[in-house]
Amino acid sequence: MNVRNRVEVMHGVNLDQLGRRDPDQYGRLTLDELQVRIDAWADGFGLAANFFSTNHEGAFVERLHRLRGLADGVVLNPGAWTHYSYAIRDALELTGLPAVEVHLSDVDNREPWRRQSVIADLCIARVSGKGPEGYEEALAVLRDRLTRPA
Ligand code: DQA
Repeated sequence: MNVRNRVEVMHGVNLDQLGRRDPDQYGRLTLDELQVRIDAWADGFGLAANFFSTNHEGAFVERLHRLRGLADGVVLNPGAWTHYSYAIRDALELTGLPAVEVHLSDVDNREPWRRQSVIADLCIARVSGKGPEGYEEALAVLRDRLTRPA
């Protein structure tokens, strides 16, 4: 049987600064600590997570270019790029992979410019404002999609 369980978990700009950013919005976990939790959730769902993080938009785009054949699904939190990067949008579309958009904070109830997502319509789900647990929800959505009979 062809097992589809590889999930790329991608963090964009400024998310490497978790732990130093406003704890009311983003909590107190560092990115490393967050990734440990995500890895455990993925494991529990029978998914194999691979982690990628960068502050460089081009590096994020190039990682997306390489994903086909390396991953079966994507969980991505592009940070501020979410709100304006058509380059990341185009690269995500190119992957052809099921993707879930995640934000730690409640982007719909902050500054108006955070309400815009240029990737939302490419994603099978969007989880926002649920803190680290939002990633668990995102992984559950992907697991359901990846185990669904074709
Ligand atoms: C974020 C929300 C974005 O608006 C912000 O620019 C981030 C983090 C979140 O996880 O809540 O950097 O994506």
